[in-house]
Order: sequence, then structure tokens, then C-alpha cells
Amino acid sequence: MSTWEPLRVGLLSISDRAARGQYEDAGLPALRQWLEQTLLNPLQIESQLIPDEQNLIEHHLRRLADHCACSLILTTGGTGPSPRDVTPEATLAVADKILPGFGEQMRAHSLHYTPTAILSRQVAVIRGRCLIVNLPGQPKAIQETLDGIFAAVPYCLELIGAPYVDTDPARLRSHRPRSAQRPPPAPVAEPTAPNCGKAAD
Ligand code: MTE
Repeated sequence: MSTWEPLRVGLLSISDRAARGQYEDAGLPALRQWLEQTLLNPLQIESQLIPDEQNLIEHHLRRLADHCACSLILTTGGTGPSPRDVTPEATLAVADKILPGFGEQMRAHSLHYTPTAILSRQVAVIRGRCLIVNLPGQPKAIQETLDGIFAAVPYCLELIGAPYVDTDPARLRSHRPRSAQRPPPAPVAEPTAPNCGKAAD
């Protein structure tokens, strides 16, 4: 039993070299650690490491949003300008709505750390009841970017019909209109995760 409703999260690390085993993927552990340290909700995480192939990225975004019923998907990698970087194109291809403010804020915030942040083409979109956010590939960049935008994520999730999510205020205070703020809900039993096997659609 937990006080907070579980949040189903999809994590997608997109890297040719990590997927080939040329180096160990550092994106998924960095995403997981940041979420576990920041969110008060129990997390049901479905993760996947894949190469920079647009069709494959689109397939896994649809699988995580539609079959796994993830409320939030975070991608890492493939946002830069090189020919193999196609994460934003794949994300836009599965979008119902685009949220330009996230991309604007990610770049504005990240420029405080590095001038090369201007090279990241990251986007955020809504698909159904799922918010999908692109992040750059390096663990340091993941942390910097999430620190800069995540305060807006809980209210966005609420507006699309996802569970009420809150953050540890010692790490990050969520921005919500006062009328949308709630005290911690009564304890709820954690539902089991849906079957979201990795077979093709
Ligand atoms: N954003 C932050 N916060 N910190 C960084 O170090 N690196 C940039 C940029 N955004 C960076 C950042 C660099 S060097 C690149 S090339 C782009 O993200 C794209 O990274 P990706 O291709 O790994 O997604």
C-alpha cells in the first residue's frame, strides 16, 4: 500500500553505439535515478534501449503509450543535428499535440550550463493520455534538463487525465495553480502493471 497513486513511466534510451554494445547505456540508469529521487509516487517503469532508427522509435513510443498505458515517457539521446539523430522526428510523428514550451524551456535552461545546448532539438508532445519528453543523451544533460522543466510536468499530467503526481519539495517544487493543489490522497493498493510485451503491433 502506498499513499500516492502509482505512475507508469516509459524510459527509452536511443543510441546506436549503446544498442550495439560498444559502450554501456548510461541513459536509462540516469533517468531512473532522477525519477526515484524526485517523485513521491511509486513508479512502474518499463525501459528499452534501441538504436537511432525512426520506425523503431515510433514503434516503442506507441507501445509504451498505448499498450503499456504509460502516463509519461522520457526519451534520451538522438536529439542533436547529426544525420542519425531522429528522436524529435519520431516523437512528432506519434504526437496528437505539441507542447512547444517544454522545448523552449529545456534549451533556455540548458544554455546556462553549456552553449552547445542550442544544438538539442528536443520536443515534448501529448499522445492520448501520455506526455512524451525528449532529453539529450548524456547523464549530466539529463539531470540538468529535468531539473529545468520537470516542475511543469505534474500539472500537465493532471490536465491530460494521468494520475496526480507530486515531487519531493526538498528537491523540486511542482508548479500548480492553487486551485489544483491537493493534500496527499488516502492510501491506495498498487494495481499490477498491464501486459505490454515487446512484440510488434
Ligand atoms: N543540455 C544540457 N543541459 N547539457 C548538455 O551537456 N549537451 C548538448 C545538448 N544539450 C547538453 C545539452 C549537446 S553537446 C548536444 S549535441 C545536444 O544536446 C544533443 O544531444 P543528443 O544527441 O545526445 O541528444
